Amino acid sequence: MPERRPLIAGNWKMHKTLPEARTLARDIRQGVAPGRRAEVALAPPYTALAAVAAELAGSDLRLAAQDAFWEKQGAYTGAISPAMLADVGCRYVIVGHSERRRHFGDTDETVSRKLTAVIAAGLIPILCIGETQAEREADQTLQVVRRQLEGGLGTLKPATGAALVIAYEPVWAIGTGLTATPEQAQTVHHFIRSLLREFLGAPAEAIRIQYGGSVTPDNAAILLAQPDIDGALVGGASLKPELFLPIIAAAG
Ligand code: 13P
Repeated sequence: MPERRPLIAGNWKMHKTLPEARTLARDIRQGVAPGRRAEVALAPPYTALAAVAAELAGSDLRLAAQDAFWEKQGAYTGAISPAMLADVGCRYVIVGHSERRRHFGDTDETVSRKLTAVIAAGLIPILCIGETQAEREADQTLQVVRRQLEGGLGTLKPATGAALVIAYEPVWAIGTGLTATPEQAQTVHHFIRSLLREFLGAPAEAIRIQYGGSVTPDNAAILLAQPDIDGALVGGASLKPELFLPIIAAAG
């Protein structure tokens, strides 16, 4: 089985001015242990990408964006293309975050277009999927995850399968302080891996599946110890080095 290096990514969402972003990136850069096991990525808002790129230059910390439009360029006011994100130094792009689906109308179809465009630009998408509270209570978690994964991957070819990250983020656990138990999370992650095998074949073993939703220094180690949890997508706790750095350390 291929070794999957855990990916700990901080999704800063709509937070941080430029001076605040520089300070946070610097503090994280200075605080991470050099020989750590985890790969680390920071996803600041678009306005701070260039400034954070400059702070991370010469380090092995990665830059990530929170979303992208699928067109290369053109009359799309307010949109940012994957090529622009590559240009500013991104390696990863989050697509299909539940907040994009909820507030900005992203659907499985538009998420799939974004994912394809991100890969075409030579970047690695982090595809977010996860059920709402109502869907979990109605016992639809696995159906929802299957639909979002199948829809989001679209016609992706197995050859590109490994250049892809999945983030399982149960919507009810995002920003609520509620976390999936390690068993609940592992059950869904294991299911996602079996779906990846079904859709993409052998590359599925190398694809990292992150957990997201109220990850803290207190629950990170037990979540990351699950066999199919290969990292974390961290929101609130990624805005504070004193919380984010121990989460990175929890990956070993
Ligand atoms: P919280 O860690 O704040 O729950 O957010 C998770 C998330 O949405 C990361 O993308």
